Order: sequence, then C-alpha cells, then structure tokens
Amino acid sequence: MASRKGSQQSRGDGDKYSVLLPTYNERENLPLIVWLLVKYFGESGYEYEIIVIDDGSPDGTLEVAEQLQKIYGKDKILLRPRAKKLGLGTAYIHGIKHARGNYVFIMDADLSHHPKFIPEFIKKQREGGYDLVSGTRYRGDGGVYGWDLRRKLISRGANYVTQVLLRPGASDLTGSFRLYKKEVLESLVERCVSKGYVFQMEMIVRARQLNYTIGEVPISFVDRVYGESKLGGNEIVSFLKGLLTLFATT
Ligand code: GDD
Ligand code: MN
Repeated sequence: MASRKGSQQSRGDGDKYSVLLPTYNERENLPLIVWLLVKYFGESGYEYEIIVIDDGSPDGTLEVAEQLQKIYGKDKILLRPRAKKLGLGTAYIHGIKHARGNYVFIMDADLSHHPKFIPEFIKKQREGGYDLVSGTRYRGDGGVYGWDLRRKLISRGANYVTQVLLRPGASDLTGSFRLYKKEVLESLVERCVSKGYVFQMEMIVRARQLNYTIGEVPISFVDRVYGESKLGGNEIVSFLKGLLTLFATT
C-alpha cells in the first residue's frame, strides 16, 4: 500500500486516543493547540478525540471551544466543562469519565507541550507495550525553555525530594505530558487522593508501586507565551503535603 504520510486516512488498527485538555483561561492558546493536534493526528492517521475540560474560565475559553467544535466536529472535539475552578487533578478525573479511546493522552493546553511529540509517545508505547509513557524533561534531549530560576528550582526540587523519599525511578515525576492505557489510568485514578498539581507525581509513584510498566520520551517544555501559569504558592504547599502523605502511607 502507498505511504500514508500526510493523508487524513485512519490506520484502522482499532486503537483510539483520547486527549484530555484541561483549561483555565486559555482563550488565546486553545485554537492553536487544537489545530496542531488535528494536524499531527491527521498526518499520522491515528483515531483520536479531544476532550476540553474548562473550569468556568472568566476569559471565555469555553466560547472559543464551542467555535472549535463547530469547525472540527462534535466527534473530534468534546466539551466537558465544569462550573468553577476545581483543580487540575479533578479536571483529569472528570475528563477520563468521558473518554471513549482505549488510550488517553494528558497534556497542557498552553502549548508548553507540543503535539509534535504525540507520534513518538505512540511509537514508544507500541514498541514496549507500556502501560504508560511519560514525557521527560530530565533525560536525553528533553529540556525546559523559558522558565526563570525560581521555577526551575521548584521543579527540580520537587523531583529531587520525591526521588529521594519515594524512589519511583522515573526521570520526570511532575511533568504532565503522558500517555496511558485507559484501564491503567482508571485504576490509578481510583487510588489517587490528590486534587491539584501534585496529582501527576502521585500517579507515577503509584504506577511504579503497582508494577505498571513505564516508558519515557524526552520532550522539550516551552514556557507559555499567552496567559499565565496557575501554579501558585498554595499548590507548592499541597505538593509537599501530598508527598509527605505518600511517604507516610506507602
Ligand atoms: N480545568 C482546569 N482546572 N484546568 C486547569 C486548572 C484547573 O483548576 N489549573 C490549571 N489548568 C490547566 C491550564 O489551563 C493548562 O492547560 C494546564 O492545566 C497546566 O496549567 P499551567 O498553569 O500552565 O501549569 P504550569 O505551566 O505552571 O505547570 C506545568 O508544569 C508543572 C510542573 O512540571 C504543568 O505541566 C503541570 O502539570 C506540571 O506539574
Ligand atoms: Mn503552563
């Protein structure tokens, strides 16, 4: 058969990828991230759907998402909003309930996670049959661009302390560009107690404890251009609380 590169045709291998996009004030970013997702999924031919979980963004993100749904269709763009800002961890949990794919991608909507890496995640997962593939900024060609020293230290510090206390043996514990087998994601979510940013860390620690297999793909994380980060001081406090809880209970 002729090369499928660049075609919009489905591979028809039965796999489907649900992409969870949590949004809070991402009006400027959403059209571009969705366009890029459509482009990279289209070119590679994998079946997919994009689930936008907006938490009542005051900037009108949901209205933008509705426009995108009109452009790309209701089977490709699903809107599963919540009335107010209830946190990143619970946004994923909410999104998973609506995912129809047998694989689920979790990523940020602010273009810090580039959809160009998606085919690499899928290739990695298929090569090793991994239960989860985690994007890593701290191995191989991975990296962080655009963060100030304070933010770099917070990320490195959170990773380091978690490595020392819990030894999960993955190189990026707080990153949030990941691909899961749907049933693995569901079983992990059931066990996770955290509600905010610490969710990512808890997920990979529990994955290790349950002996799920983890593959890694180096990614470059580029700080957002539009809008601002929602990671505040209280998220750092809840990260530390979550870490100590995990340390004490596992
Ligand atoms: N629905 C919803 N509800 N979405 C949220 C919420 C919330 O309460 N808080 C944040 N988001 C969305 C943002 O709109 C964005 O799409 C994504 O979650 C990540 O939020 P950012 O505020 O951009 O996070 P960051 O860039 O500071 O942090 C990134 O790096 C961290 C450390 O590595 C993220 O990748 C984090 O997940 C990661 O832990
Ligand atoms: Mn961000």
